[in-house]
Amino acid sequence: MPSPMRALLSILLVVTPASSYDLVRRQNAANATYKNPSAPVEDRVADLLSRMTIEEKTAQLIQGDFSSWVNTTTNVFNASGLAWNMENRAGQFYVGYPIDQSWISEGVRKAQEYLVQNTTLGIPAFVQTEGIHGLLVGNATIFNSPIAHACSWDPELIEEMADIIAKESRALGVNQLFAPLADLARELRFGRVEETFGEDPHLVGEMAYSYVKGVQNGKVSATVKHFAGFSAPEQGLNTGPVHGGERELRTTWLPPFKRAIIDAGAYSIMSSYNSYDGIPTIADYHLMTEILREEWGYQYWLTSDAGATDRLCCSFNMCACKPIDMEAVTMYALPAGNDVEMGGGSYNFAKIPKLVEEGKLAIEVVDTAVERQLRAKFEMGLFENPYPPVLTNGTNGTSSQIHTQEAVALARKLDAESIVLLENHDNVLPLKKDASIAVIGPMADFVNFGDYVVYRSQYNPTNVNPLQGIRNATSGKVTYAQGCERWSTDESGFPEAVAAAEGADVAVVVVGTWSRDQQELWQGLNATTGEHVDVSDLKLVGAMGPLVEAIIDTGKPTIVVFQSGKPVTEPWISDSAAALIQQFYPGEQGGNALADVLFGDVNPSGKLSVSVPYDVGALPVFYDYLNSGRGTDPDIGAVFPNGTLKFGHRYVLDSPQPLYEFGYGLSYSNFTYSNVTVSQSTVSPSDTVTASVSITNPSSVDGKEVVQFYVQDVIASVVVPNIQLKGFRKVLVKAGETVDVDVELKVQDWGLWDLRMKLQFSGPQGECYGVGIVRTSRRREKPMPRDRPLYSPVLITSQCPLVYATQSFEGFCMKPPLRKRRYVVCIEHGTIGNFGLFSTNKRPQKSLKKKEGRPVWPHPFGHGQGLSMCVPWVSGHVNTEESVSKLP
Ligand SMILES: *[C@@H]1O[C@H](CO)[C@@H](O)[C@H](O)[C@H]1NC(C)=O
Ligand SMILES: *[C@@H]1O[C@H](CO)[C@@H](O)[C@H](O)[C@H]1NC(C)=O
Ligand SMILES: *[C@@H]1O[C@H](CO)[C@@H](O)[C@H](O)[C@H]1NC(C)=O
Ligand SMILES: *[C@@H]1O[C@H](CO)[C@@H](O)[C@H](O)[C@H]1NC(C)=O
Ligand SMILES: *[C@@H]1O[C@H](CO)[C@@H](O)[C@H](O)[C@H]1NC(C)=O
Ligand SMILES: *[C@@H]1O[C@H](CO)[C@@H](O)[C@H](O)[C@H]1NC(C)=O
Ligand SMILES: *[C@@H]1O[C@H](CO)[C@@H](O)[C@H](O)[C@H]1NC(C)=O
Ligand SMILES: *[C@@H]1O[C@H](CO)[C@@H](O)[C@H](O)[C@H]1NC(C)=O
Ligand SMILES: *[C@@H]1O[C@H](CO)[C@@H](O)[C@H](O)[C@H]1NC(C)=O
Repeated sequence: MPSPMRALLSILLVVTPASSYDLVRRQNAANATYKNPSAPVEDRVADLLSRMTIEEKTAQLIQGDFSSWVNTTTNVFNASGLAWNMENRAGQFYVGYPIDQSWISEGVRKAQEYLVQNTTLGIPAFVQTEGIHGLLVGNATIFNSPIAHACSWDPELIEEMADIIAKESRALGVNQLFAPLADLARELRFGRVEETFGEDPHLVGEMAYSYVKGVQNGKVSATVKHFAGFSAPEQGLNTGPVHGGERELRTTWLPPFKRAIIDAGAYSIMSSYNSYDGIPTIADYHLMTEILREEWGYQYWLTSDAGATDRLCCSFNMCACKPIDMEAVTMYALPAGNDVEMGGGSYNFAKIPKLVEEGKLAIEVVDTAVERQLRAKFEMGLFENPYPPVLTNGTNGTSSQIHTQEAVALARKLDAESIVLLENHDNVLPLKKDASIAVIGPMADFVNFGDYVVYRSQYNPTNVNPLQGIRNATSGKVTYAQGCERWSTDESGFPEAVAAAEGADVAVVVVGTWSRDQQELWQGLNATTGEHVDVSDLKLVGAMGPLVEAIIDTGKPTIVVFQSGKPVTEPWISDSAAALIQQFYPGEQGGNALADVLFGDVNPSGKLSVSVPYDVGALPVFYDYLNSGRGTDPDIGAVFPNGTLKFGHRYVLDSPQPLYEFGYGLSYSNFTYSNVTVSQSTVSPSDTVTASVSITNPSSVDGKEVVQFYVQDVIASVVVPNIQLKGFRKVLVKAGETVDVDVELKVQDWGLWDLRMKLQFSGPQGECYGVGIVRTSRRREKPMPRDRPLYSPVLITSQCPLVYATQSFEGFCMKPPLRKRRYVVCIEHGTIGNFGLFSTNKRPQKSLKKKEGRPVWPHPFGHGQGLSMCVPWVSGHVNTEESVSKLP
């Protein structure tokens, strides 16, 4: 551009620095291919890229921030701040501030208008906030936390939720959410368990897939995070190193990511903070380029997490920190495949132009990263529709889209479907609506949201807490006593709580863990879960345990509700309370949802998305441990309620088995299983096998059952998970009716990563697979202490016969039901063994003899009793030599 014209322009566009607005290039681009909606996306990408300067490219690769142009205290607009931001950090910007919705929508509109009208090439931005359980903007709908979503085992509900989150986002111009997580809850001390969809790769994959589909059908980009191998940090400490190898990465950590990223077509990914096997994931070429791009064929972009790039120098010590070696950071992350740098750190990617100019960084690397993001923008239609028209209509437009009745109703439904009934002794639940109820505990009159909610959202007047939900549902008398503070050992509130229980028919005690909103969490206010809030113990803190005990000791039937972001280990409560409910962190309708279940308006159908250990010392307790893990030695120890110690060896005074296994949960109905079949007994890797079962509900109430299909690689050439969930269906079975359930299982999902790290379906010994359907939902009648998982011994031989008939093996328990595995017996023709003693009582019941007439709930020791709940396994054999090294 001639200099007189440049001078003129810089006068005309006072707030726009000349370098970001080039009139000649803008005019040249007037009819450019990239602006043509009907041109092929790849042509548009190439055309636009060819018109960009290195500064414009760099600006696409660094995250901007809304606060650059909107004062988030006063809403005063800063035009030069906007111009500066878009010159340097134009690809995407963050808007998740606790401010009025209209400030956000107006600030977004100004930014996108500026980008489209006042920059040379007019490239619209991704507008970003958080959204793992609701749009992170004030007064948007808050759903329960992801750990709870997964307990619903209902991917359709997750998609419906995501659809609503997308609608609320679009209403404000937000078009990208930092969600979902495809991480696994493999380390329960870690504070972020609540953000995950649980411990299992298949369940997590299906939930994350549904979330991605839901938001992206709503024209909002998902961001699948945290890529990858993040959520089992050393000592459970946030962002700590993760130990594992390539086989574990591929077998366990990556499948849910591939499902959410590739199968669902996610437009973006966020890398994780940690190192895995000594490599920071944001500098891991093998992970982000060789696997993600070359093997999986991923076409879109990947961003670092907030401040994560600086960690290369300042946490991992892979470069100098003070001052930070920005060039080194850039050279580690960008060529490895981390395309975009999020804020929260030193904005190291600003060095890109210098590195290119000096020949240290190939322009092709920069171009590839920019292309990936532009491709996503074109595919999403951002150039044609940079912001929704509703934005031009201010708050009026948004109020009809955000926090609608439909959204609130779905929040309640999803919450109720996620509640897991763990114990229901003597069918104390559901409660009668005219019962007089004492509602007790520091979480009863409290809105217990998980992390990733906006500042002060706990106080939204539309929230419903447990006390309000119970009051709203019952015609009986409700009394309330807090009993104690959640953070205190002070028991001075106990007498009031005990009196409330004594004066009522039944007590409901709500205790658990707590988190904080995003602001309070990072201010460091007390909490027991959430990001950067990790624990060394999973017991109730402070006076909460003693409060539960004091209420149980009144002799009134006591229903204990754990509201928490992770498992709570107080096994004595399972036996001593009349009933036990697990409500993982609720959403804004959590109190109504809890009441729906307590009073039987909703028959509980949630199943645990994560195993519950007896004690933190038994971690990890995920069910899909590798063969040889967990031990089949029944030599467990115990501390009996009377104080007697029984010394075992695995463990000395405890058991390595979980108290409640993944997939466990009770119902007010009961179900029987029959006619288990698979469609074929010899398969090849490209086959899809249909597994079928008939579910009967002989009870008098309609109920939903989650039918879980597991696959076992019986003879494998490397060490594989002992059993893996590969399919599930949640079905409504009306009282007295029978429903046939089919699930399609892709054999492609059964492969193992062999000695040479190739995906294989048949090894030197052949691969013999068993397909099983596991009952999980029946109430424990009498505990069955036997710590010995037994697997289909009659079916499998080392010869791996080609055909296992799909016959019924009535009377054989081929696989223990995935409930309290600790109590599992294997029934052979109805003969029951005699079993040793053990106890679940971690908390000595000092008050056991204190009171006459105290109800004593069955304790989990004594002689076993037959269970008729075992279902047969049917098995098949992959009889092909075929193996594939890459998934299609
Ligand atoms: C762009 O196309 C329009 C209509 O096709 C035409 O009028 C205009 O002159 C073109 N502009 C440029 C810069 O080529
Ligand atoms: C926002 O405005 C307030 C009040 O004028 C001022 O104190 C504050 O510094 C401003 N914030 C920023 C980031 O400019
Ligand atoms: C942006 O462009 C529009 C349309 O050309 C113009 O009216 C407006 O003044 C410009 N705004 C800025 C901040 O340059
Ligand atoms: C939420 O709504 C209430 C009134 O309903 C309002 O006072 C408050 O400012 C809103 N909060 C945000 C962050 O928009
Ligand atoms: C805003 O929306 C309302 C209700 O849909 C409509 O009546 C009004 O005309 C719109 N205003 C503008 C400026 O578009
Ligand atoms: C729009 O908002 C104004 C002011 O809040 C209110 O008076 C008006 O009724 C609203 N209009 C609609 C269509 O909601
Ligand atoms: C109380 O329960 C009824 C019926 O379940 C429901 O329609 C209503 O919204 C609830 N009230 C509140 C304040 O949540
Ligand atoms: C915990 O935080 C609350 C504020 O939410 C505060 O009132 C209380 O004193 C704190 N307790 C402890 C023990 O830190
Ligand atoms: C304590 O309880 C266990 C298990 O019931 C029993 O075997 C043992 O004999 C009891 N010991 C005493 C001293 O009562």
